[in-house]
Amino acid sequence: MDTKYKILELLKLQSNYMSGEEIGEKFNISRSAVWKNILKLKNEGYIIESITNKGYFLTKTNDVLNPHEIQYELTTKAFGKKFEFFKETDSTNNELKRVAQSKIEEGFLAVAEKQTNGKGRFGNTWTYSNNDNLAFSVLLTPPLSPNDIKTLTLLAGLSVCKALHNLEIDAYLKWPNDIILNGKKIGGILTEISCEIERINYVIVGIGININTKKFDFELENKATSLFIETGKNFKRKVILNYILNEFEQSYYKFIKNNSFVEFKADYEKLCLNIGKHVKSKIKNSVIEGIATGISDEGELIVEDKNNNKTILLSGEVSVRLTDGSYI
Ligand code: BTN
Repeated sequence: MDTKYKILELLKLQSNYMSGEEIGEKFNISRSAVWKNILKLKNEGYIIESITNKGYFLTKTNDVLNPHEIQYELTTKAFGKKFEFFKETDSTNNELKRVAQSKIEEGFLAVAEKQTNGKGRFGNTWTYSNNDNLAFSVLLTPPLSPNDIKTLTLLAGLSVCKALHNLEIDAYLKWPNDIILNGKKIGGILTEISCEIERINYVIVGIGININTKKFDFELENKATSLFIETGKNFKRKVILNYILNEFEQSYYKFIKNNSFVEFKADYEKLCLNIGKHVKSKIKNSVIEGIATGISDEGELIVEDKNNNKTILLSGEVSVRLTDGSYI
């Protein structure tokens, strides 16, 4: 491990200032070498306070995302065992498409601090510019038919919600791919696939979560939110990344083993905001309207209109009517 990171990990364990001399003794380096390494860490964004005669103190609120922090934090078995980190990229989904041109490795992870051309569903953009959110994608090679892939989006959404529940955040799902907190969107999933008629080459599951954003632009502020806005607290992105990847990895391997969504259905329905609510969805030129009564065994949304006709929605944009009459 690079000496600066050895110093960093040592400082993380301290609840008080540690002197340059003490640090230097641990690693057999001079005080000025310690100081140079501290400067390097500060340049990477770590907030380290220094007081003459007392030494150095790493503030506990650091939310630095870099390859060292990711590698140190991840406790997954396969997802993210190999990863690339980008200070800036167009889109982590695009990065994985580029990776897949030379090597398709199950669980390969791309994480970006900034996305300049991030993609949402239906051609929407999902750009992050402030180093305070999570944008990442996982490359997968499930032994499934292309038809079963939409279920992966649901599993990813469920994993995000469960991960946030670990932090006591009451996140819900809006079928198929929105993560909702207090009636506003906090995250979304974009699944892309490369396949032949019956065979999948690879799937990319891209996840974006608004973590420490302090304020959204006027056009977004009624629809989008962040963990910070809802709780007033700053979160460590690496911790959330690790929770999500662990949840997703577990459910992904269960899912491909049995090739069935059934064991996840009850959990999904419990968290799915659509269920029992009036929903609207545009399909080509018509609008399907009714009450969402459940999720099918294949992960589709079942909608019943006022004449008790059932429609099974495979995918698409679905608005949900809230108690105040507004739609999300
Ligand atoms: C949506 O809700 O419309 C889906 C948003 C998905 C955004 C994520 S951020 C990481 C990954 N890279 C992308 O370009 N998009 C996804």
